[in-house]
Amino acid sequence: MMKELKGRERSSRIHIGDSLAGMEMCLTSDDIIVITDANIRKLHSHAFPEAEVIDVEPGEGSKNLRTVEHIYEKLLELGADRQSFIVGIGGGIVCDITGFAASTYMRGLRFALVPTTLLAQVDAAIGGKNGVNLRHYKNIVGTINQPDFVLVDMGFLDTLPPREFRNGMAEVIKSAAICSRSLFEYLEDNRENILGLDTESLGRIINDTVDIKLDIVSRDEFETGERRKLNFGHTFGHALEKLLPYSHGEAISIGMMIAAKMSVARGMLGSEDSERLERLIRDYGLPHKAEMDTDSMIDALGKDKKRVGDKVKFVLLNGIGSAEIVEIPLDELKKV
Ligand SMILES: NC(=O)c1ccc[n+]([C@@H]2O[C@H](COP(=O)([O-])OP(=O)(O)OC[C@H]3O[C@@H](n4cnc5c(N)ncnc54)[C@H](O)[C@@H]3O)[C@@H](O)[C@H]2O)c1
Ligand SMILES: [Zn+2]
Repeated sequence: MMKELKGRERSSRIHIGDSLAGMEMCLTSDDIIVITDANIRKLHSHAFPEAEVIDVEPGEGSKNLRTVEHIYEKLLELGADRQSFIVGIGGGIVCDITGFAASTYMRGLRFALVPTTLLAQVDAAIGGKNGVNLRHYKNIVGTINQPDFVLVDMGFLDTLPPREFRNGMAEVIKSAAICSRSLFEYLEDNRENILGLDTESLGRIINDTVDIKLDIVSRDEFETGERRKLNFGHTFGHALEKLLPYSHGEAISIGMMIAAKMSVARGMLGSEDSERLERLIRDYGLPHKAEMDTDSMIDALGKDKKRVGDKVKFVLLNGIGSAEIVEIPLDELKKV
């Protein structure tokens, strides 16, 4: 399946369900350089295209300018020039670092992404945002630049640790909750197949989730309005991630439930819909609540970059598959 993302500067093709082995067809340069991480290299390098390989240490700790500098130096040593083509093969971290390094080296080389985690397949590799962390600020240095293509090979998910798979499912559930009642129902009805990594079911959920992101991003490439809906569950999620040892997917699952409860409290969402969301989150092995002290939570929210004065912009639901952006004063939050 092939889709196109029309960016302001460049368009990008997204191939879902193709195999990495067949990628050579998409490559128009014979000077290919692969960027990956050590885990992926060990498990999957047999399927890589013929190329020089640069690998980075796995983990968020590598998503910084030192790693980018290391990549620039390797590119120099390899004699990379504007004819070279960079392929990032890995999770969201490799995709973000690759997109940034490729977009900046010699003011921009052409590149492609082959996401290997569910999260990267439905989210990190889609939309053209890429960047790295600086000090404790996440993604604070980066570019918005579309790859030539993104190739989603579901075969990678066979080796993905279950907790990483659940992380990606949290973003799939989020997209369904804000934009697609039919995807939401599909997730409710096809849990066994999805958790069993059935190719057809995975293809369906990845396809729908990518469509949702593409639809939103194409209307709002530079994040001024619509794109904020993708932050459903993320305002509280980010605060939780900072304070407790939750993974991103776990934290946003709890964040989605807090936002759903706020939606119910404001009379926007029926309590039966909030319960449906809770059931779905639990069905996919994700947490729906956290024990924590309200003050430290509000304090962390106060530092959120989406804050405007003493109000925070929240994405709330007004039904399953439908979201709205609402500004809420910090005092009102304490009550929830
Ligand atoms: N640019 C964007 O729009 C965007 C959107 C969402 C998230 N992100 C970023 O994505 C990053 C998180 O990405 P992630 O969750 O994919 O994490 P990740 O890249 O760290 O991958 C998770 C772990 O799984 C391993 N792994 C990856 N694929 C594997 C496979 N097929 N088999 C076995 N192991 C595998 C990796 O080596 C790593 O240890 C964050 O830095 C986040 O900021 C970016
Ligand atoms: Zn997220």
